[in-house]
Amino acid sequence: MLVDRFGRKITNLRISVTSRCNLNCFYCHREGYLSGDELSPDEIAEIAEAFRELGVRKVKITGGEPLVRKDIVEIVEKLPKFDEISMTTNGQLLSRYACDLKRAGLDRVNVSLDTLDAKKYRAMTRGGKIERVIEGIEAAINAGLTPVKLNMVLISGLNLDEIDEMIKFARKFRGKLILQFIELVNLNYNGEGYFDVFRLKERFESSAREIRIRGMQKRRQYIFEDYAVELVKPVDNSEFCHSCNRIRVTADGKIKPCLMRNDNLVDVRGLSGERLLNVIREAILLREPYYRGD
Ligand code: 5AD
Repeated sequence: MLVDRFGRKITNLRISVTSRCNLNCFYCHREGYLSGDELSPDEIAEIAEAFRELGVRKVKITGGEPLVRKDIVEIVEKLPKFDEISMTTNGQLLSRYACDLKRAGLDRVNVSLDTLDAKKYRAMTRGGKIERVIEGIEAAINAGLTPVKLNMVLISGLNLDEIDEMIKFARKFRGKLILQFIELVNLNYNGEGYFDVFRLKERFESSAREIRIRGMQKRRQYIFEDYAVELVKPVDNSEFCHSCNRIRVTADGKIKPCLMRNDNLVDVRGLSGERLLNVIREAILLREPYYRGD
């Protein structure tokens, strides 16, 4: 079991398989282009296996956009067995891959969708086609990559007026969709449009059929008849950091101890066996809460 100096157990691994993306969302907090080549499916599998041996239970494949990798199905296929393997995607290529990914062992997807307005979508993503995302969501549900989580980053002045519409959209999928309202993180972006998602707490708390506390992060899910809502608040939230059970690997094989930081990466490319395990253990000791609440 991996435990950091703050007693936080590391159970969730995020693996970025590429920093390339077929969209270019204006607020995106991606790291930018990498120094090294992308890891191969075998290299990814080896790093994932090391984390598995050290107690990681869940893996999320991320990017960039993971589906721009031609070998994405092979990547998923080669991963060792975990309690859950999921993927975050913008959905542009999802309808093409949904069935193959399911067969390869993917359990679930998160799909980014900040608006239901085609024009707005194209502007925010700089060229994205909303029909493809909708098709992708439908394909994922039909393939059994469920529950599908929809990531909607809430941005004031842009999409706060679409919350009800998004709920209506989610309900059409009869319980197969979980809506995540995500707070805007200000990393590569000037932070204009920030909205505190906990301002929605009361609204969902008072009307939910049931409130479920989920996972180690104690995330609250508000359950309704035919959909569910989760509020994701990373900004200025010491609870988010104190219960953080996540670690990341970049597309070129560097461990990223904290999502919010780019200044303490640890290269594990080319390492294997005991050496790989030990460098991972050392990287864990670099972890510290970004928001401490003091
Ligand atoms: N703030 C919050 N979430 C972000 N994402 C990307 N950039 C940001 C940001 N600045 C999240 C979105 C998207 C996923 C890939 O990353 O939820 O769906």
